[in-house]
Amino acid sequence: SFEQSLRPQMLSQYIGQDKLKNNLEVFIKAAKMRKETLDHVLLYGPPGLGKTTLATVIANEMGVDIRMTSGPAIERPGDLAAILTSLDPGEVLFIDEIHRLPRAIEEVLYPAMEDYCLDIVIGKGPEARSVRLDLPPFTLVGATTRAGAVSAPLRDRFGVLCRLEYYTIEQLTAIVIRTAEILDTDIDGDGAVEIAKRSRGTPRIANRLLRRVRDFAQVRSNGVITFALADEALELLQVDKLGLDQIDHKLLRGIIEKFRGGPVGIDTIAASIGEEPTTIEDVYEPYLLQIGFLQRTPRGRMVTHQVYEHFQMEVPCE
Ligand code: ADE
Repeated sequence: SFEQSLRPQMLSQYIGQDKLKNNLEVFIKAAKMRKETLDHVLLYGPPGLGKTTLATVIANEMGVDIRMTSGPAIERPGDLAAILTSLDPGEVLFIDEIHRLPRAIEEVLYPAMEDYCLDIVIGKGPEARSVRLDLPPFTLVGATTRAGAVSAPLRDRFGVLCRLEYYTIEQLTAIVIRTAEILDTDIDGDGAVEIAKRSRGTPRIANRLLRRVRDFAQVRSNGVITFALADEALELLQVDKLGLDQIDHKLLRGIIEKFRGGPVGIDTIAASIGEEPTTIEDVYEPYLLQIGFLQRTPRGRMVTHQVYEHFQMEVPCE
């Protein structure tokens, strides 16, 4: 699809995650030299950092096809068995949100990952027998926002564990410039840096903001994305100077105004602003922790003095 064509296809086109990329390059080369299937890979980290893209790149580098599914999409053990038995030898099976696989289905994966086989129970009651079925060798690439949410027995069966990290401004700038080129959009260096600075370390956000800023450039200006144009458009998009959006603001102001800055439990905050606790934990909180705006304490979340400064509010005394 069009969306797919924006994404890097090979490791050499993939910007950022340098340590992970260098290691993966070695594991891929080694597997190819030995004419083996790549060991199973677990990708974890906040959303939008490129886990799905990396899975595709891994398949491309190995020269094999990729089958994509997700934890919640696999409802019964038979669903997984159907996928596993229909894989071509060496294929990559990508399971997004793998922490949401039901436990009974996870257990089908264990022998599949370890020995490329399926244990199927035929019949019921005293007649029941177990049959072992061979599978083609395959590489499981699992993705999750939280490695801690993956059960230990499943996590232990991955040979390669990769944590994705937030991107630097420089890396995001390079991604914005690359995407602008693919979209055939005029952007200057300062325009690209401004979008990068306001993308919360996340390429998915950078590329989304680029498209929206490009709309403003086209309709309200001469089509060129400069600093001034980007700054004005991002203001209208309600993305602040640090890239925080309306939900970040609601979250932070909520803790200050309703809970005197915290500490307050995640469920309490979530209920007070009408968001799901898991959305806050997986999507919003990680970046706010990363930039030092939130602290996790045993008694709950607290905002730091930097939040008061960002909102130009007086820092309360203890
Ligand atoms: N587009 C989105 N993420 C990217 C990345 N990491 N490298 C290059 N282009 C991208």
